[in-house]
Amino acid sequence: MGSTPSFPRVSIPKDNISVVTGGNTGVGYHTAKWLAMMGGTVIIACRSEERAKQAIEQMNKEFEEEKEKKTTGIVDYDQLNVEFMSLDCNSLKSVISFVEAYKSSGRKLHKLFCNAGIGQQDKLSYTEDGHEQIFQVNYLSQFLLVSHLLPLMKASGPDCRIILVSSIGHLFAHFDPVDVELKKYSEPECKSDKLYQNSKLCQIMQMYRLNEVLKDTNVTVFSLHPGTVRTELLTTFKRGMMKYVISMLETVGASKSPFEGAWTSLNAGINPELAGVRDVYFSDSKPTTPASAARNKSYQAALWDYSIECLKGYLPDDILSGLQ
Ligand SMILES: NC(=O)c1ccc[n+]([C@@H]2O[C@H](COP(=O)([O-])OP(=O)(O)OC[C@H]3O[C@@H](n4cnc5c(N)ncnc54)[C@H](OP(=O)(O)O)[C@@H]3O)[C@@H](O)[C@H]2O)c1
Repeated sequence: MGSTPSFPRVSIPKDNISVVTGGNTGVGYHTAKWLAMMGGTVIIACRSEERAKQAIEQMNKEFEEEKEKKTTGIVDYDQLNVEFMSLDCNSLKSVISFVEAYKSSGRKLHKLFCNAGIGQQDKLSYTEDGHEQIFQVNYLSQFLLVSHLLPLMKASGPDCRIILVSSIGHLFAHFDPVDVELKKYSEPECKSDKLYQNSKLCQIMQMYRLNEVLKDTNVTVFSLHPGTVRTELLTTFKRGMMKYVISMLETVGASKSPFEGAWTSLNAGINPELAGVRDVYFSDSKPTTPASAARNKSYQAALWDYSIECLKGYLPDDILSGLQ
């Protein structure tokens, strides 16, 4: 796919803070590493402390190599400012613990990359909160995270951004406003790609609705497809249409390295030309029109109401009022 960077190399102040969920590997790893190499402070919100610490060590090793190569656009710090904080999107309680820990750190928050995700699963699973696992990990838990961090982002100064890492797979989703989690599906059907595709559709609908709620604020929301990226998640697609499409793309050499896969997230997060811009879904860094279901306002409203209903025990009035 070539190696010319397709994101602007900007200088990010050290006190400009990003949270990257799932920043320990794949697209999130390279997003976090480059944000830090351009000068920012980055929190990788991950479920395994060990994997996160190994990732931070690896980022610093690669940073040293980039400095030796005299790569342009990177800082000359001794160490990258990357830290781990615990977050498991399988659990709403874990999201709340993350939020409490983050708030008590006294930090601002400028960029929130909702990147953590899981792909196709071998069996239908429900979380401790009673939600279908892919729906909760890819969408619902990160909706809760966004909701609780919004007040902080609103108070963090100009040009704060939320980046929802979705997928082109949303094009094949079937949204059902009365069965948002597809609970009617039987075990064999749920082994298909549908649950993943629907979770990714939900993220794009969330972008539109959040932008509406945030229209007079300093916080903007983008969603995106990073491309077909050779990561752990890609290997989970063992059945169905996604597997077929992925193998075709790989056969013709149209898949990307994880670094290339981070370009679209980085562009959405830091490109100065996107300050104040709303409602853009990027595919490979290009503004693209998502599926009509994603743009359907009554679907967006149904999803929003359902999400708030699912999370009602976790959304106190002050947080809820920020979502209206
Ligand atoms: N790869 C592609 O071709 C592709 C295409 C379209 C969209 N995407 C999207 O890109 C995003 C990043 O995926 P990737 O390809 O980089 O996959 P990846 O390499 O498998 O990374 C996924 C990340 O999500 C984290 N994660 C999984 N479950 C979690 C949980 N319960 N709580 C917190 N973090 C969790 C993983 O942490 P662990 O290391 O602990 O598992 C990992 O850091 C996903 O949202 C995915 O849907 C990817």
